[in-house]
Amino acid sequence: MCGIVGYIGKKQAYPILINGLRRLEYRGYDSAGLSIINGLLKLYKTKGKVIDLERFVRDRDISGTVGIAHTRWATHGEPNDVNAHPHYSPSGKMALVHNGIIENYNSLKKELLNRGYTFTSETDTEVLIHLIEDIKVNENIDIVKAVQMALSQVVGAYAIVLICEEEPGMLIAAKQGSPLVVGIGEDDFYIASDATPIVEYTRDVVYLNDQEIAILKPGEHIKILTVSNRIMTPYIQKLEINLGNLEKRGFPHFMLKEIYEQANSIHDSMRGRTSLQSGMIKLGGVKKYEDKLLNARRIILVACGTSWHAGLVGEYLLEFLARIPVEVEYASEFRYRQPVLYKDDIVIAISQSGETADTIAAVKLAKEKGVTVLGICNVVGSTLARITDAGSYTHAGPEIGVASTKAFTAQVTILIQMALMISMKKKTVSKERFLNLLVELNQIPAKVKKMLKANDQIREIAEKFINVKNALYLGRGVNYPIAMEGALKLKEISYIHAEGYPAAEMKHGPIALIDVEMPVVVIATQCETYEKVVSNIQEVKARKGKIIAIVTEGDTEVRKIADHVIEVPKTDELLVPLIATIPLQLLSYHIAVARGCNIDQPRNLAKSVTVE
Ligand code: M6R
Repeated sequence: MCGIVGYIGKKQAYPILINGLRRLEYRGYDSAGLSIINGLLKLYKTKGKVIDLERFVRDRDISGTVGIAHTRWATHGEPNDVNAHPHYSPSGKMALVHNGIIENYNSLKKELLNRGYTFTSETDTEVLIHLIEDIKVNENIDIVKAVQMALSQVVGAYAIVLICEEEPGMLIAAKQGSPLVVGIGEDDFYIASDATPIVEYTRDVVYLNDQEIAILKPGEHIKILTVSNRIMTPYIQKLEINLGNLEKRGFPHFMLKEIYEQANSIHDSMRGRTSLQSGMIKLGGVKKYEDKLLNARRIILVACGTSWHAGLVGEYLLEFLARIPVEVEYASEFRYRQPVLYKDDIVIAISQSGETADTIAAVKLAKEKGVTVLGICNVVGSTLARITDAGSYTHAGPEIGVASTKAFTAQVTILIQMALMISMKKKTVSKERFLNLLVELNQIPAKVKKMLKANDQIREIAEKFINVKNALYLGRGVNYPIAMEGALKLKEISYIHAEGYPAAEMKHGPIALIDVEMPVVVIATQCETYEKVVSNIQEVKARKGKIIAIVTEGDTEVRKIADHVIEVPKTDELLVPLIATIPLQLLSYHIAVARGCNIDQPRNLAKSVTVE
């Protein structure tokens, strides 16, 4: 939610800021703005996307070597020019960009109003910059001290970057809850919400921790203080991001590119972990906690959105293979419902970004209760990766499309490996079954590649459903979460209402919706409950619903009754989610393209939900 970029050094700031905003646009695209100092502080902002900002500044003075920029996902106040960031201080000499929510902004604002200040926007951010300047002037202190004092009054989450006309050689950044990364150049500094705007300039970065304030002055070392004025030693890390992954590489959309990357990303999430030769699975990142995992009383998976669906797949796999009771929780519910946790429980948080506010809060809660918390996360160095006891990176590479695709299959791949690793050690599955699964798992990337060949067929099917208002997705067992994920993908990018249901539950309500207009996507691959799913298909047909069936290659039974059939390569039934997800992603993609929707930036959404 909201992307922040900042630069200070000898280069022109504008190209760095604009390129950075383009990279961060996945975090929000309601408005964009920037502020640059060149003698005077200049501020330009507009409703709309980064491209609108580029048009807006075309004939304006954007020169200067220090600046900040912002792309917004609106929280306080509608998306318009006035609420766009940066925000000015009352004197117009400071400008601030902010990601997060200041929860006590109303009481702070009232106090400032009483003291005669006026506000032009409805944002919490304008309140903060007013407060900082008010403290600076009234206490007659320097700007860093004023930032410290102001932040000590703030309740909520923030990542902020501030520039000041009177001190053009300094950029100040601070964070609590929302992410911020500082890039350390030769004689300059970069700052951003994630590392993607920084990686082309430097690979040396410092991830700021909560309560830390970075003071960046070219020619000097980065200085980090806390809000309570403790001096911190910066921990400089090397970035390992492949720049090519941040480009579309000839695909029309990031989402399609990322769908196609899945053969590789699934392979990458197994690389060095699963070995056919030794017949072993080793998850190095959680090795230290292996005994705890083997002896866990329960595993509680916490996540949001698509990552929560991965958790549901994990529940089936861990219970089936490792025989450990599993609960899957929406992080947003878990954090507020006073969950009963035991010391021998293990909480596993799943998140692509590693920055989802609810997931982070759930992790903090579990840690406070003394429970071991592991993470399954895609973004290296993210908050989740830093606050969990240990974890496994998914190694899917940067996911830019707002609709999560390759991160999901990589999360499921990690969960399968975890379930297999535990089952092997606990001997809850036979050696033969374990080895069969290992062989099948290794063949998944090739089968995903084969699945992707159905793209044209899926596009043709999709074109028949572009005007529908609703869709139902059905699946059973390990494919029930896949039905939910398929429905979420359709909702997110095509704005068609869709629901994912366990197939057998249809008759307890959703069947009432079925008529000749209603597409029903059924995952009917070969498994224990195949015949029962076929009966569900018959029930839909009897009510004239349109069936799109995902079946195992060679299936003849469903073909007789379904309107459209998409075949998936044969694999072990526990591994089907990794392949059956692909046609559902493609179906949503092609429906949304045909409807003219914005694929990579669907309305109202942001990739990283860093607010509650
Ligand atoms: O970064 P996270 O995995 O924690 O994000 C969780 C959800 O916000 C995310 O999966 C969301 O549902 C996606 N837009 C789904 O495509």
